[in-house]
Amino acid sequence: MNKIFNFGYTKVTSKEKTELVQKVFSDVSKNYDLMNDIMSLGAHRLWKKKFVELVDPLKDDKIIDVGSGSGDIVIELLKKNINIDIDVVDLNYEMINIGEKRIKNKKVNFHINNAENLKFENNSFDKYLISFCLRNISNIDKSLNEAFRILKPGGKYFCLEFSKPKSFFISKIYNKYKANFIPLVGKLVADNKAAYNYLNESIDLFPNQNQLKVKLTKAGFINVSYINLFNGIVTIHKGYKL
Ligand SMILES: C[S@@+](CC[C@H](N)C(=O)[O-])C[C@H]1O[C@@H](n2cnc3c(N)ncnc32)[C@H](O)[C@@H]1O
Repeated sequence: MNKIFNFGYTKVTSKEKTELVQKVFSDVSKNYDLMNDIMSLGAHRLWKKKFVELVDPLKDDKIIDVGSGSGDIVIELLKKNINIDIDVVDLNYEMINIGEKRIKNKKVNFHINNAENLKFENNSFDKYLISFCLRNISNIDKSLNEAFRILKPGGKYFCLEFSKPKSFFISKIYNKYKANFIPLVGKLVADNKAAYNYLNESIDLFPNQNQLKVKLTKAGFINVSYINLFNGIVTIHKGYKL
């Protein structure tokens, strides 16, 4: 029997969700960077900076950035100016194409690949990074199992993603902002209200901090922990493979 997944509030099969999400990213790719700046009022830059600080890339690390999109995380990693190999993965041709145009570095390799079924060998990477992508993957558990498989023993998993604010008051304001401002800006700037409606709904339906921690533990990671940024609007989860 086909398992049912959420594409926003619509129930779909895994294949349908993947296709619908890919259509969203093909449609928004041209305005993706501008929309990130407008919707987060620039805050996504701080979140990504903090993320890369926590990742703490070391000389000769082999790193994979999954759902890399236009490549912000890779650009942040390269600013550290140390010798690292980076494999960049995204399922969307238009998005990865933007990344490829922005990043010219012989230590960075680009791949079109689904996070649920990675083409890399077992025990290949020191660090697995995923930023604002996990929410869009049809089968999150499958992608966590894949992350675990391709990490070396001693390897580390890092996920930056929207989560749930801790304060009731902030939560109220944030929910109104998400439900009204984001689709409106989506319509005005990108002429695509539906795509940004999906963004709002996908944030609502994504597992909260503790639920994601449980999923990571089930996938085999140990010492799983998270830190909240902006009161938990965004969270960074971290886990280790023994
Ligand atoms: C919101 S963007 C995040 C881009 C970038 N990491 C950032 O933080 O700005 C999500 C990206 O994940 C990609 N994506 C969605 N589902 C995927 C999957 N199953 N496998 C690989 N990439 C996927 C999308 O194509 C898109 O480029």
